[in-house]
Amino acid sequence: MTITFIGHGYVGLVSASVFADLGNTVWVIGHTKEKIENLKKGIIPIYEPGLEEIVRKNVKAKRIFFTLDYKDAIPESSVVFIAVGTPPKDNGEADLSAVFEVAKKIAPYLTGYTVVATKSTVPVGTNRKIKEIINQLKPQKAEFDIASVPEFLREGQAISDTFHPDRIVIGTESKQAENLLVELHKPIDGNYVLTNIETAEMIKYAANAFLATKISFANSIAYLSGLIGADGLKVLEAVGLDKRIGSYFLSPGAGFGGSCLPKDIKALLNIAKTKGYDFGLLKEVDKVNNQAMKEIVSKSKRLLKGSLDNKTIAVLGLSFKPNTDDMRDAPSIEIIGGLKKGGAKIKVYDPVAMENAKKILKGITFSKDCYQVVEDADLLIVLTEWNEFRQLDLKKIKKLMRKPNIVDGRNIYDPKETRKLGFVYLGVGR
Ligand code: UDX
Repeated sequence: MTITFIGHGYVGLVSASVFADLGNTVWVIGHTKEKIENLKKGIIPIYEPGLEEIVRKNVKAKRIFFTLDYKDAIPESSVVFIAVGTPPKDNGEADLSAVFEVAKKIAPYLTGYTVVATKSTVPVGTNRKIKEIINQLKPQKAEFDIASVPEFLREGQAISDTFHPDRIVIGTESKQAENLLVELHKPIDGNYVLTNIETAEMIKYAANAFLATKISFANSIAYLSGLIGADGLKVLEAVGLDKRIGSYFLSPGAGFGGSCLPKDIKALLNIAKTKGYDFGLLKEVDKVNNQAMKEIVSKSKRLLKGSLDNKTIAVLGLSFKPNTDDMRDAPSIEIIGGLKKGGAKIKVYDPVAMENAKKILKGITFSKDCYQVVEDADLLIVLTEWNEFRQLDLKKIKKLMRKPNIVDGRNIYDPKETRKLGFVYLGVGR
């Protein structure tokens, strides 16, 4: 099948390359000349393990093509996926201007029958607006249906999530569109949820809101466990063994970040508000997440005898989670801001997110590795659980630091072992 993806972020580029790998002819439309020229050479604009290899393989096999021009791709495509960004506006509402802009550009090039499917996370009702826009601008003879096919991939494991998703959600009112989309997804294993557009749009928000709720619940239990002298990690481990609950997304830590969870709970809150429903539970989820970040600053202060002023703090990990260079809504931004406010001098290291971090974090020192960053530090804080941080020579770290203090915001070190080495150690919920 010939298909098009508009947008080459995590969702667009990963899905496009997976569908190309499955034997389809795939066009990817972007709007930055330099990025499109790079993509043609197999140079990708994001960091995602395995993505460059699969893009290069399919460029070489002439199954994936990149263009700036809608007329190269749309007329010959059976399915056109919209996969552009929907960043939050100041009030939390999703900014849909890119989605509608793209719909306007697709419409004039539609021929025959095409399914226009949205992969971007969009509020309920958006696909109906896309339909109206296209209806006004399409050639008279062209026929189309709209569909919502939300994406659930996680950064860092996006390729495997796309080949082996837990579920494939297809929301459309048209049997013809549904059949075409099912046929396209056929080689991918997963539970199919065939439904209407509104339900599909809502499934994505509900899934991300629930994941965020689980994490904030874990952070609250971890916090309370600390107050009563219980081992929060053991509590959560035991709770997660109940099959009805499950152990995923119950790790307490420095808070959740990224391009989806924080933005999607705000957008869902906003959707609820427009319908007159006060989704108080989600407000708390957001509040607890902010507290989890603040708690890292408080713990740091505690270890530094009540004052951050003029203390040197080494931060390991900046991206919102490991295996990505994505800094969007990374807890490190908020936490480093809090530490700087207290007068601390900050040194940081991240294996891949340094370039992106430099655009956001100012007035701090970027170190070249895990050992340089801790030199003369009064405190070490771990904010991202990169595997390479788990393997560090802690004896060497201790020698390099001025004071052997650790705030382990992702619980990657063994408290007993670390304390045995002479560190003063604080984790989350331990
Ligand atoms: C998320 C959803 O998981 C995915 O299905 C959706 O398509 C996009 O949003 P992603 O943003 O890539 O994916 O990251 P995810 O793995 O969900 O992690 C989000 C944040 O939660 C990270 O900051 C991570 O550190 C944090 N987290 C996750 C925890 O603090 N504790 C956990 O137990 C799990």
